[in-house]
Amino acid sequence: MLKVNKLTKVFLSADNKVSAVKDVSMDVPDGVFSTIVGKSGSGKSTLLSLLGALDKPTSGSIEVGGEDVTRMGDSKLIKYRRDKIGFIFQNYNLIPNLTALENVTLPMEFAGIKKEERIKRAESLLKQVGLDLAKQNRKPGRLSGGEQQRVAIARALANKPKLILADEPTGNLDSATGKIIIDLLKDLARTENTTIVAVTHDEGIAKQAKITFTLKDGRLV
Ligand SMILES: Nc1ncnc2c1ncn2[C@@H]1O[C@H](COP(=O)(O)OP(=O)(O)OP(=O)(O)O)[C@@H](O)[C@H]1O
Ligand SMILES: [Mg+2]
Repeated sequence: MLKVNKLTKVFLSADNKVSAVKDVSMDVPDGVFSTIVGKSGSGKSTLLSLLGALDKPTSGSIEVGGEDVTRMGDSKLIKYRRDKIGFIFQNYNLIPNLTALENVTLPMEFAGIKKEERIKRAESLLKQVGLDLAKQNRKPGRLSGGEQQRVAIARALANKPKLILADEPTGNLDSATGKIIIDLLKDLARTENTTIVAVTHDEGIAKQAKITFTLKDGRLV
């Protein structure tokens, strides 16, 4: 269960103050596919970064499986991000000098999984998201945006996370590939009891979610 309580994030700069997330409380039970929708600038990516412990909230708390993420020390946070969370970034964040396959094996290496097993799993994940063997050995710079997105999705699934946070996971995909990705995420929710929170602009995807959260100017409406 993901439990968010009165989460607020204020960005401060010398002459400016932006409240990107305001007093957001939300619950997502285990194994539920949920979506976050809202206009550009409404705080979706900021909220997702807070949930993934990539950024610290100004106030409020986030509980995952009964543990308060906002109170974890650094070494615990590293493990939390590595083992519990699969994060699919809006801009992919792939490592440019590693191949697609290496981008997917890397989190497994950090988690101490043996080399043969890492490669086998990475190949299978990349195949699932529709990236053939030749492309698996290319670096991100030689892949299209949609292909990079698929690598990012495979990487997020590498360590079998309990919680997948996805920022526009199908934003750059044609509708057929987008459907494959959403079906894959929904399947994970059902078969592995994985909790999914996906930001989307796509109403068709939002409709398939069990819960949809709508953000407006940083607040849930
Ligand atoms: N690091 C930052 N420093 C200052 N302001 C920020 C920062 N990150 C985001 N913001 C501001 O917070 C607000 C919410 O931004 P956010 O990226 O969360 O929106 P979004 O809903 O993901 O938008 P989009 O649909 O365009 O991706 C915006 O006003 C944005 O300018
Ligand atoms: Mg965003």
